[in-house]
Amino acid sequence: MNQAKRYTITAALPYTNGPVHIGHLAGVYVPADIYTRYLRLKQKDVIYICGSDEHGVPITLRAKKEGVTPQQIVDKYHSIIKKSFEEFGISFDNYSRTSAKIHHKTASTFFKKLYDDGKFIEETSEQFYDKEANQFLADRFIVGTCPKCGFEESYGDQCESCGTSHNATDLINPKSAITGNTPSLKETKHWYLPLDQYESWLREWIVEGHKNDWKANVLGQVKSWLDDGLRPRAVTRDLDWGIPVPVEGAKGKVLYVWFDAPIGYISSTKEWAKRENKDWEPYWKDKDTQLIHFIGKDNIVFHAIIFPAMLKAEGSYILPENVPANEFLNLEGNKISTSKNWAVWLHEYLLDFPDKQDVLRYVLTANAPESKDNDFTWKDFQARNNNELVAILGNFINRVTVLIHKYYDGIVPEKGKHFKELDKINDFRNSIGKSIELFRFREASQELINLARMGNVFLQEQEPWKKIKENPDEVKGIMFVAIQIAAALAHLSAPFLPFTSKKLCNILNIEPKNWDDVFVSETKSLIKNVHQINASELLFEKIEDDAIQLQLDKLAASKTLNEQENKVLVPQKDEITFDDFTNMDIRIGTILEAEKVTKTKKLLKLQVDVGIDTRTIVSGIAESFSPDAIIGQQVSVLVNLAPRKIRGIESQGMILMTETKEGKLSFLAPVSDTVKNGEQVN
Ligand code: 2FM
Ligand code: ZN
Repeated sequence: MNQAKRYTITAALPYTNGPVHIGHLAGVYVPADIYTRYLRLKQKDVIYICGSDEHGVPITLRAKKEGVTPQQIVDKYHSIIKKSFEEFGISFDNYSRTSAKIHHKTASTFFKKLYDDGKFIEETSEQFYDKEANQFLADRFIVGTCPKCGFEESYGDQCESCGTSHNATDLINPKSAITGNTPSLKETKHWYLPLDQYESWLREWIVEGHKNDWKANVLGQVKSWLDDGLRPRAVTRDLDWGIPVPVEGAKGKVLYVWFDAPIGYISSTKEWAKRENKDWEPYWKDKDTQLIHFIGKDNIVFHAIIFPAMLKAEGSYILPENVPANEFLNLEGNKISTSKNWAVWLHEYLLDFPDKQDVLRYVLTANAPESKDNDFTWKDFQARNNNELVAILGNFINRVTVLIHKYYDGIVPEKGKHFKELDKINDFRNSIGKSIELFRFREASQELINLARMGNVFLQEQEPWKKIKENPDEVKGIMFVAIQIAAALAHLSAPFLPFTSKKLCNILNIEPKNWDDVFVSETKSLIKNVHQINASELLFEKIEDDAIQLQLDKLAASKTLNEQENKVLVPQKDEITFDDFTNMDIRIGTILEAEKVTKTKKLLKLQVDVGIDTRTIVSGIAESFSPDAIIGQQVSVLVNLAPRKIRGIESQGMILMTETKEGKLSFLAPVSDTVKNGEQVN
């Protein structure tokens, strides 16, 4: 391990737009927790920093969905998330939130410094605007087809399917996530970080400087970004939820959530330092500090490119030493999805499996998506619990403690002849440590189980239960070695299974040890003879089929619900020929007049300029739009539809609309303002 003076470990700040699930735990918080706990045991000066990411569009969207304010949303989920982390033993030194005063101040000061130093470009450009919602459509307020992979529900700033990060105006067929309307374009001023100016520096720092120590998946993404060429990136948004842009002429504008969120690591460190009466600056500014960001793969660009560019631009901060990003964890073959309720929520897991935090921590580590996406299945969860934790680790500890009670009333016997297994304890400690240092937590967890496996094989080969009568002295030596292995397991499991490690220390009646003190030699043991151990207790219990079936049933219920919702979509109509299609003459028109058709609920009588002429059209949209609101609205009109009389009025065409499952209508209007009446839709 590089001998740094101190370590600042960060874990991605979760959005407070929902509770946390197993994907979060597996990808970020458990690996970072193992790493930090290990460093603490190595007696390093280390802080583990996190907090809630409370700005950004996901919060506002969730608030709209639940019909409450964004503040109510962040308060609710901040508490739920914080509690889940505590319950799972995620040992942050500080868990803050980006709505905290200290964060607003830190982020504003950071922005202002870059602004004053002339590090931004100021630019006015056209951005998507939803006339009905009367607001600009930043980031997740807009959805459309990803220009790179064709995914139809890509967000304005990032495609969740291929991970590409783009500008909203790059989207094909963009739609407002608020109203479903096709947005128009409107001019607005923003500040941009000219990432292109940092490109060659980034290439040298990462591609050259970190080619041997950063993970392949991270380097791969970084290279592809750099090869595509970096562009200036807007760091402000037209939104009313966030940190106000701290300069003149920025009314109604806030910092882009991805500008403020990573600064949240710094604010959270400040909060910690204040509470602990320490100095925060060395943790962010001393060259002898290693900064390590644990994140999921969708966050790579922000932590490996954008945040480092921000830190570099500011000038007084250190850069990350490593960004060990994980890939995604799927659930039973499908992508984890909050909206589809396809997830294992941490707070729900604990209701069904109380006190089984370590089981989940273990399974998520043993099956972590370290180099590729992985699948969590309940069968695998059961198998790993029953076959590894119960049958190997739990079984070994139980055999040792039961036998020590049975043969010696719980008093550790004296050392006998030397067994090679004793020396192996040091090797295991080294190999587990090495794997952790290389961010190979799966491998490390398997080595831990291998140590218990070695203990089982040792007992199986030595068969103390057969020798106890004829050769009690030899058995003493065997049991002495066995209990040293048990003690090693108590100590070395601490980063992975903190609850189990504690329980095991209690059973063995020993105090936790630092990592390097988990060492045995001719003269040094982990537990001395005549030491009294406590009563034996089971560390893990078998998980039966019915408990697993319950979880599978829950997921099946989510699936059925989703399928039912999808079925509401009208099935595709019968095939038509190309000629059928070209026979339809669809033109762009503008609504000039609109009035209600008397004694009807649904109908509006419209005068529409369709370029060729101005004509009367009767349209069933009165429940969705008031006449005044649609004057001047551009629409698509089927102009060669045979005229028909509706309520005595001759309607000469049809306005084309989209309709949601709930019956919400939106106009099919051109995205650009420059499309003229009469232009054809082909
Ligand atoms: O992807 C996410 O959930 C973001 N909220 C992560 C932010 S990480 C950091 F920059 F704060
Ligand atoms: Zn995509």
